[in-house]
Amino acid sequence: MNIDIGIDLGTANTVIYIRDKGIVVNQPSVVAYEVKGKKVIAIGNKAKRMMGKTPEELEVVKPIKNGVISDYTLTERMLKAYVMAAMQKRKIWGKPNVCVCVPSGITEVQKRAVEDAVFRTGAKKVYILEEPFAAAIGAGVDIESNKGHMVVDIGAGTTDIAVISQGGINYSASEKVGGDDFDEAIIKYMKKRHNVLMGEVSTEQLKLEIGSVYPREKDAVGYAKGKELVRGLPTKVPVKSSEIIEACEEVSDMVINAIKLALESTPPELVGDISEYGIILTGGGSKIFGMNRLITEKTGVRVRRIECPELVVATGAANAKDYVLNSEHVTVLESQQDF
Ligand SMILES: Nc1ncnc2c1ncn2[C@@H]1O[C@H](COP(=O)(O)OP(=O)(O)OP(=O)(O)O)[C@@H](O)[C@H]1O
Ligand SMILES: [Mg+2]
Repeated sequence: MNIDIGIDLGTANTVIYIRDKGIVVNQPSVVAYEVKGKKVIAIGNKAKRMMGKTPEELEVVKPIKNGVISDYTLTERMLKAYVMAAMQKRKIWGKPNVCVCVPSGITEVQKRAVEDAVFRTGAKKVYILEEPFAAAIGAGVDIESNKGHMVVDIGAGTTDIAVISQGGINYSASEKVGGDDFDEAIIKYMKKRHNVLMGEVSTEQLKLEIGSVYPREKDAVGYAKGKELVRGLPTKVPVKSSEIIEACEEVSDMVINAIKLALESTPPELVGDISEYGIILTGGGSKIFGMNRLITEKTGVRVRRIECPELVVATGAANAKDYVLNSEHVTVLESQQDF
């Protein structure tokens, strides 16, 4: 049995991988709609570009918040649009087998609802796979082996840590801290230090440009763009990456402490395996400059280099084999009727 489509339904981004084709969707989990009648007018990048700029009659939302689906109808609309777009890029026709990874905080009922939504786009079978397995598979790990592996996924709102070995989970924890908390910390810092009130989108942009959690060889410089706190006029203040490290310290400490706790809670033999292979660091939040080095410095365990850490979950979901799909870490919904 092969999976045809792998989906990472994330709080910040939805990624879809198609077998033999690769990543076909990598878009923000954002929806813009008309308040009256709830008509959806934009999804993904187009909707994200509208954030913080819409007139009263429009609203732009992230329908999945803090790892939980907060607006089911909009999530379903978004998911359907992405799956349909992905299916059109498939070469082979016939009903696909789909494997989905959902946010860790999702309830059983919501899991069912996601399954249902994907199912109704025309899937033959829908598997919901626990994320650490998908991340490990996507990172190229043989999860059936008796070696222990640690997966640390820094997403938008959560950091999920799991230790897996022989196809099972030895330790798992979900900390309510992620990439978006760096943005929030930067907003607070700019307000306090530079009297600048920044918006969500420009803050993330600044983070992508010069965000750091570990010193760079040479300080990078960016601009905090927003409004003056007192007069409310537009302003642009130069900021150094070293200031961002300071702003983000509390958040990066939380991530580090969660990893330390995971290592402390893991049996010695497995810790040995983990340090030999290196921590598998995934998720967009892990891309902030210096995260690898900070983890290695603070824990003494090296981090394995992964090409695109934000894409491995969808890739792994699409490449899950029978061994995983038949395990207890998966729930399945099977087509009973033709659509
Ligand atoms: N180059 C980068 N530098 C710093 N942060 C980044 C970078 N690229 C993405 N991010 C951050 O990564 C986060 C999104 O990560 P990701 O796409 O893995 O989240 P998600 O899977 O949707 O969320 P979750 O797993 O919490 O449901 C955002 O906070 C984003 O700002
Ligand atoms: Mg994620």
